[in-house]
Amino acid sequence: MNKIAIIGSGPCGLSMLRAFQQAEKNGEKMPEIVCFDKQSDWGGLWNYSWRTGSDQFGDAVPNSMYRYLWSNGPKECLEFADYNFEEHFGKPIPSFPPREVLQNYILGRAKKSDIKKYIKFNTLVTKVEVNGNQFSVTSKNKINNKISRDIFDNVIVASGHFSVPFIPEYEGMNSFPGRILHSHDFRDAEEFRNKNIVVLGSSYSAEDIALQCYKYGAKSVTIGYRNNPMGFKWPTGMKEVHYLDKLDGKKAIFKDGHIQDADAIILCTGYLHHFPFLEESLKLKTHNRLYPSKLYKGVAWQDNLNLFYLGMQDQFHTFNMFDAQAWYVRDMILNKIQPPSSEEIEKDILNWVSKEEKLEDPLQMIDFQTEYTINLCKEIDYPKIDFELIRKHFHQWEHDKIEDIVNYRNKSFSSAVTGSVAPLHHTDWLEAMDDSMDTFMKIKS
Ligand SMILES: Cc1cc2nc3c(=O)[nH]c(=O)nc-3n(C[C@H](O)[C@H](O)[C@H](O)COP(=O)(O)OP(=O)(O)OC[C@H]3O[C@@H](n4cnc5c(N)ncnc54)[C@H](O)[C@@H]3O)c2cc1C
Ligand SMILES: NC(=O)c1ccc[n+]([C@@H]2O[C@H](COP(=O)([O-])OP(=O)(O)OC[C@H]3O[C@@H](n4cnc5c(N)ncnc54)[C@H](OP(=O)(O)O)[C@@H]3O)[C@@H](O)[C@H]2O)c1
Repeated sequence: MNKIAIIGSGPCGLSMLRAFQQAEKNGEKMPEIVCFDKQSDWGGLWNYSWRTGSDQFGDAVPNSMYRYLWSNGPKECLEFADYNFEEHFGKPIPSFPPREVLQNYILGRAKKSDIKKYIKFNTLVTKVEVNGNQFSVTSKNKINNKISRDIFDNVIVASGHFSVPFIPEYEGMNSFPGRILHSHDFRDAEEFRNKNIVVLGSSYSAEDIALQCYKYGAKSVTIGYRNNPMGFKWPTGMKEVHYLDKLDGKKAIFKDGHIQDADAIILCTGYLHHFPFLEESLKLKTHNRLYPSKLYKGVAWQDNLNLFYLGMQDQFHTFNMFDAQAWYVRDMILNKIQPPSSEEIEKDILNWVSKEEKLEDPLQMIDFQTEYTINLCKEIDYPKIDFELIRKHFHQWEHDKIEDIVNYRNKSFSSAVTGSVAPLHHTDWLEAMDDSMDTFMKIKS
């Protein structure tokens, strides 16, 4: 029987454990599994921590989520096919929940699956090396500093790729009199009340952190994009300008000539795929894209098909795509899915990569990732879920954002699992200052 190492117990690692547990329920023999997580609890990024920089052991803090973070896509697009929201909460809930509610949902399925026994918490994987047909995995118990080395037949890298910030430098930063931080270290928009904020970037972190600062009372919010503006209809007090040229004292000078006094610069400049624990021959090297190359079916390492990566794509689809990937990996490990020849594998990867390179807009990108997920599901027994409806929801969501970026979270969508339509939230997102689960779950009066 195979011995399997899973690195990470975030949503991807939990999907992997769930996939094996479901197979066991259906009469399959469970392989020997060890899941390592350097955090003290499961849930990955969905754990909020006030910490930034390094933790109490001197290791980099992985958490990137902040207070008042709400789902940026409809929950109906990420719902698990085998554990729906209504089943978990006992009633329908609105489409855009805050972080604590989504965390509760993810962990709800995990708790029901009896999988915690496989996870070694506070255990940092420090090295993964090829050892003949197997892998040698070295880990460190962060509490007692004990180093262990074990041999595994398969390694599944589920360590996430939104924890190690990419931090560019601009002229004038050293003498800027305010605060400069990366979105990875952003924790609370209240800090920026009455301040002039410059946000750099044009993706989801830039959009959401800029809106958060606006919502919690920033004096002004100026977003500097590098290539393409997000182009939303920003409310009064927010604007989007072209690329930061330099800082001169507290003045932010942009390439389009725009000058803005700034009290803080928030770098929403993305994250690095960073795997310091993997030997070079096993290391995925990619930027944040929808189809990183060298991954067969988006999961199996082309150069060594005993190594797998989960969730390494840029993400529209999340939890149910992670499930589809985990089910697929499980079936490859259990020899239920046989990989084709290396020529076929190369052809398959190139086919997806070349399709990805031709994508022109978010709608095409959504379609691409939906098609990828449907393609995986054709070969596995992941329970039925209406991915065509999810695709439509994502298109509608894009449309809603273009129509009204401040209010898109006040919309309601139908479940692709149960068909039920979400109720509206009792408070519009812009007015909802309290993001606690207790307040969110109250019924609209
Ligand atoms: C700010 C922010 C907001 C987001 N909001 C949403 C949202 O609203 N909706 C949505 O669907 N998605 C959202 N996402 C996307 C998010 O990436 C996924 O939802 C999800 O958390 C990814 O799961 P993961 O398991 O791949 O990675 P992670 O959640 O990052 O989990 C990885 C785990 O691996 C562990 N680990 C890493 N390295 C090691 C090591 N060497 N040894 C041991 N353990 C290790 C970490 O401790 C962590 O627990 C957001 C991402 C960010 C950054
Ligand atoms: N729930 C929520 O509301 C929420 C909030 C925040 C984040 N998230 C999630 O977090 C994940 C990561 O999103 P992200 O926005 O952090 O990363 P991202 O999607 O990878 O985007 C990185 C951004 O950084 C910009 N950039 C890179 N280098 C730059 C430079 N030198 N100067 C200026 N800009 C630069 C890129 O610009 P170019 O396009 O020009 O390359 C891009 O806009 C996503 O999955 C997202 O959904 C969710």
